[in-house]
Amino acid sequence: MSNIVILTGAGISAESGIETFRADTGLWAQHRVEDVATPEGFARDPARVVAFYNGRRSQAASVAPNAAHDALARLEAAHAGEVLVVTQNVDDLHERSGSNNLIHMHGALNSALCGACEHRWPAPLEMQVGQKCPACNAPAARPDIVWFGEMPYQMDRIFAALSRADIFVAIGTSGNVYPAAGFVAEAARAGARTLEINLEPSAVGSQFDDALLGPATQTVPEWVDSILAG
Ligand code: OAD
Repeated sequence: MSNIVILTGAGISAESGIETFRADTGLWAQHRVEDVATPEGFARDPARVVAFYNGRRSQAASVAPNAAHDALARLEAAHAGEVLVVTQNVDDLHERSGSNNLIHMHGALNSALCGACEHRWPAPLEMQVGQKCPACNAPAARPDIVWFGEMPYQMDRIFAALSRADIFVAIGTSGNVYPAAGFVAEAARAGARTLEINLEPSAVGSQFDDALLGPATQTVPEWVDSILAG
């Protein structure tokens, strides 16, 4: 009975129609990280930042999960050991496919966070600047997104899962952003077999035992079938 930890990145949602970050035409070619993905950018121009995530939230709501998300939900339902999906994605396509054991380490578009008391609540489709927190009433609502310079969520739970993983798989992530890019080394140290699924080898590709190259909607169902076949 194997424990499986799966790290996903923007590449798993690409075929649903959500652009990745580092492609030539990706989000970071259209927006400056400092403007829309840092606490300093939010302090400087909250309207720009809120508008950026409003746009991404409405885009995520307009697309559907694909065969790769579906395959991971199928794996969780059918596999005897633990299956944990740790996603860097802020869309909700994993949960809409039926994944339950899921960590959004970089936050979620459908959640709002109070910058004053850290209360969380479901974000409206259109967040406004200075919206009031329903718990403490401070006009400090912000998108519940982990920005550069902030600590990703649930790291203790993630490292505990990596330490007991038998299989670690990274899907559709470029290996440029830490701590997620360091999970392969952590899992290998704990004795897991490691697999990278991507269109091309990532920045940390050489650290994996195996690679499965190709579009996620084909490679992920293929891999899940092979695990479920034993
Ligand atoms: P990137 O945009 O950096 O990388 C996307 C990866 O997906 C690349 O390695 C592509 O080769 C791969 N890819 C693209 N299409 C694919 C497909 N159809 N099938 C399989 N793989 C495909 O996105 P991330 O690695 O997720 O953080 O980026 C990590 C973090 O950087 C994001 O969570 C975000 C960003 O800045 C924050 O905003 C905190």
